[in-house]
Amino acid sequence: MCGIVGVLGRNQVAPLLVEALKRLEYRGYDSAGIATVNDGRLDRRRAVGKLVNLSDLLVHEPLAGRAGIGHTRWATHGAATVANAHPHRAGGVAVVHNGIIENFRDLRAELTAAGYSFESETDTETVALLMRQERDAGKDARAATAAVLARLHGAFALCFLFEGEDDLMICARKGSPLAIGHGEGEMFVGSDAIALAPMTDRITYLEEGDWAVITRQGAEIFDAEGRRANRAMTRIQIDATRIEKAGHKHFMAKEIAEQPVVLADALRHYTAGDALNLPADLDFRAVERLTLVACGTAHYACHVAKYWFESLAGLPCDIDIASEFRYREPPLSDKGWALFVSQSGETADTLAALRYARERVARILSVVNVPTSSIARESDLALPILAGVEVGVASTKAFTCQLAVLALLALKAAQDRGRLDAAGVAAHLAEFRLLPGLMNHALTLAPEIEALSEHLAEAQDVLFLGRGPMYPLALEGALKLKEISYIHAEGYASGELKHGPIALIDNRVPVIVMAPRDGLFDKTVSNMQEVMARHGKVLLISDATGIAEAGQDCWETLTLPEAPALLAPILYAIPAQLLAYHTAIAKGTDVDQPRNLAKSVTVE
Ligand code: F6R
Repeated sequence: MCGIVGVLGRNQVAPLLVEALKRLEYRGYDSAGIATVNDGRLDRRRAVGKLVNLSDLLVHEPLAGRAGIGHTRWATHGAATVANAHPHRAGGVAVVHNGIIENFRDLRAELTAAGYSFESETDTETVALLMRQERDAGKDARAATAAVLARLHGAFALCFLFEGEDDLMICARKGSPLAIGHGEGEMFVGSDAIALAPMTDRITYLEEGDWAVITRQGAEIFDAEGRRANRAMTRIQIDATRIEKAGHKHFMAKEIAEQPVVLADALRHYTAGDALNLPADLDFRAVERLTLVACGTAHYACHVAKYWFESLAGLPCDIDIASEFRYREPPLSDKGWALFVSQSGETADTLAALRYARERVARILSVVNVPTSSIARESDLALPILAGVEVGVASTKAFTCQLAVLALLALKAAQDRGRLDAAGVAAHLAEFRLLPGLMNHALTLAPEIEALSEHLAEAQDVLFLGRGPMYPLALEGALKLKEISYIHAEGYASGELKHGPIALIDNRVPVIVMAPRDGLFDKTVSNMQEVMARHGKVLLISDATGIAEAGQDCWETLTLPEAPALLAPILYAIPAQLLAYHTAIAKGTDVDQPRNLAKSVTVE
């Protein structure tokens, strides 16, 4: 989603702004722009498409100035055009914005009636024009901002720059996160700390409803009621090397490859020898029901976890997509817990679902990758997945780390509820210690998968099938493939095939069957036979025993190492990710920033 950066610098800021926007590229965007104030004069440059277009424009039409704001836009209101790109400007004010101004239609009508005209189709321009209206009425920058913020509904982060003011930025946060960075005689604003990482490690996160008046001397922060607010400054540790590609062609390739390492880190964090090392007050004994809510890949992680919580711990679970949950307004029990899973911790629907559950359940847990995120901060207990920064838009290492943390939680629930004793937990943890090695083994399939993907790239439609915990893996495999290769893919529970999707099968439709040799294997193989009887091209992903038993007439097979049942969904994620990655490469798509997608989905 949109990225925001602002710099009150000691030197020329245009190159810093573009560099910072590059670090925000991972969020997904389709146009970009910057504005600066130079000797009091406000000016801007904007370009559609990749940042290189903005950089090229700046070569021909440079922007001088030591104060500036920048933006990468992910289109919501109005197409990706120069006119709709940020910064938006009205009179002596420029603004960049992340989020949605929900009452913009009313505001637009009111401004039009007052004689102001619009140059874009965006909701953001209403903010710029409201500021102009307040400035026209004689208010200074600070008073105008307070008046405008009071009129905006929705979720947003904003940063303003003012003509005639070389030492002033004003920013505001409601719903969408915003970080202020402190330098020596310079100050920064960013959508996240990653944008600011090389410029400063001293960060103040604005809280909900906060806004700040920033000069090179520091930031004056106000809360939603306009009272001065003290917000702590923290030193962040974003190791720059963790946001480099480290020799890989793409962030996604790097993130797939580092899964054994980050997963081992997470396991070390949550275990102590043969026992679990989870917060002492995490006790599942009296929990009546667990409600798991998330979006996209994180939702599929919840879906796998439902099997674990129910089978291992006998704990009834509901899972829901956050955007449905929040409007369905489900009854919740005050003896139940709700668990929200989110890589970014900022997904608007998941956050809204958490707020809905707040007063309705006994406890709110979250499993997040960004411990400073809104979802983490609003939970009673946030468990970090410790995957490190995930830059590729398609979630990979966050998914497997989410699964690992959820599996450990399920073991804790099983122990608390008397379904597993200490020895049982120790046995599962011993299995877990095999996982990094098994994942390394799975990664060696890359050349085989690359060769296969050449063929997959020619398909129009692909089906993924799985049973039990492999069913959500089939959904995840299909999501990965469609989001980065743009091939239409669907995941189905194997048993559902003959209830409809079998009509799609012919010799042009690859069907990817994910089936470890477990208790459900024979049933899945029967469904696979039904596909082959209709000339479907089956790719069977199984272990050596499974391939020996059922691989003969398949189009292709991939052999994974034998894995304990609990770990299979984590292991089988790897071939699914590699298939998507190599198929996308074969098709020549933009793997790290697939079209139309955003990394952190901060709008509904
Ligand atoms: C797909 C993907 C998305 C996210 C979803 C939720 O590869 O990454 O489906 O899983 O947008 O995002 P988070 O986990 O940040 O809440």
